[in-house]
Amino acid sequence: MTEDRTGSVLLRQVRPYGEGEPVDVLVSDGVVAEVGRIDPPSGVEVIEGAGHVLLPGFVDLHTHLREPGREDTETIDTGSAAAALGGYTAVFAMANTDPVADNAVVTDHVWRRGREVGLVDVHPVGAVTVGLAGERLAEMGTMANSAAGVRMFSDDGHCVADPLVMRRALEYSTALGVVVAQHAEEPRLTVGAQAHEGERAARLGYPGWPASAEESIVARDCVLARHARARLHVCHVSTAGTVEVLRWAKEQGTDVSAEVTPHHLFLTDERLATFDPVNKVNPPLRTEQDAQRMRQALADGVIDCVATDHAPHAAQDKDTEWAAARPGMLGLQTALSVVVETMVRPGLLDWRGVARVMSERPAEIVGLPDQGRPLAVGEPANLVLVDEDAEWTVRGAELASRATNTPYEGLRLPAVVSATLLRGRVTSREGKIV
Ligand code: DOR
Repeated sequence: MTEDRTGSVLLRQVRPYGEGEPVDVLVSDGVVAEVGRIDPPSGVEVIEGAGHVLLPGFVDLHTHLREPGREDTETIDTGSAAAALGGYTAVFAMANTDPVADNAVVTDHVWRRGREVGLVDVHPVGAVTVGLAGERLAEMGTMANSAAGVRMFSDDGHCVADPLVMRRALEYSTALGVVVAQHAEEPRLTVGAQAHEGERAARLGYPGWPASAEESIVARDCVLARHARARLHVCHVSTAGTVEVLRWAKEQGTDVSAEVTPHHLFLTDERLATFDPVNKVNPPLRTEQDAQRMRQALADGVIDCVATDHAPHAAQDKDTEWAAARPGMLGLQTALSVVVETMVRPGLLDWRGVARVMSERPAEIVGLPDQGRPLAVGEPANLVLVDEDAEWTVRGAELASRATNTPYEGLRLPAVVSATLLRGRVTSREGKIV
């Protein structure tokens, strides 16, 4: 080949979905241009794949980027960098900002800032209710039809607890062709809650957050969604009982999808014994049996996808006594490694499965046409390259986030993102933003 390919990228010796013999993949004009045995055309940027696994770029349906309002903990800039380094090509930025993303001015700002930074597609999530107060519906239609084209609505951090408000939100969502994502937590059952209601919390004297507070809302919302012929998405599923409710609802034909966080796959309330608020998160870390059920449900498809619930917090809000600490943990740069540790290494998912739960299903749930696409000629080049044999040690201070609240500090984890490409442009390479 003699054609000049300046601006193109050649991924040499990579294994699509981790399968078969390594091949070369040429990326040009934002799409996968050629797959096979390719001599580097002139002007092309070459990335030596050395047998690394090639997957569609990851899509995170649940990210807190804190802009506007808490730019001391994260910005669209730093959060986008964390996302690109974690292998993501699209993230959904939750609405619990300050001001709340309950109107098109805020959602369009988030969208535009994301485009300016250009490392990952930042899709704003619109609030379901004004000010996340759970009382009056936000202007969902205006946000859905604005420049950002909001596709997902959530009061995450708060539950839309009033069944009539939730019913109306679901009805509007059907008309608008968008998804309502519920933070399932019956607030009357979690007043003052600090940790999973069970033996461990009882022993430490922490007021409990019962599994039933999640399960009762998920059951209610599945019934409401079916009635409204709407699509419901359940945020951060954390209990075995919720898995049973989802299984039942899906068998009934309810249009419901669900996500699990990496930390609910990996960590349990055993961590309470550390008294370290880095382990405080909402919903709380549950039991080992719950974590096992999450892993099985993700493998068998009852839980559709992995979402990080990346929740950066300032040191003064986190390094304090347990009861005063904010809930939440970083997730964007550790998600893949935790999924490999909990799902791939034990044989619950292969690399096609990882592509399904971290890219294809999340893209389908929100209807992103150019993400989670097959690795094939002509498809958009939103890609991630993974060194499955490498390991790394997590250091909060070295992550791209402004905050450092990772629960994996000092832990050695498998799998390293060696490159991420957004529409054919390399956004991260060997742990550096490009
Ligand atoms: O742990 C959490 N942190 N759970 C949520 O639902 C909200 C989030 C945050 O915004 O910090």
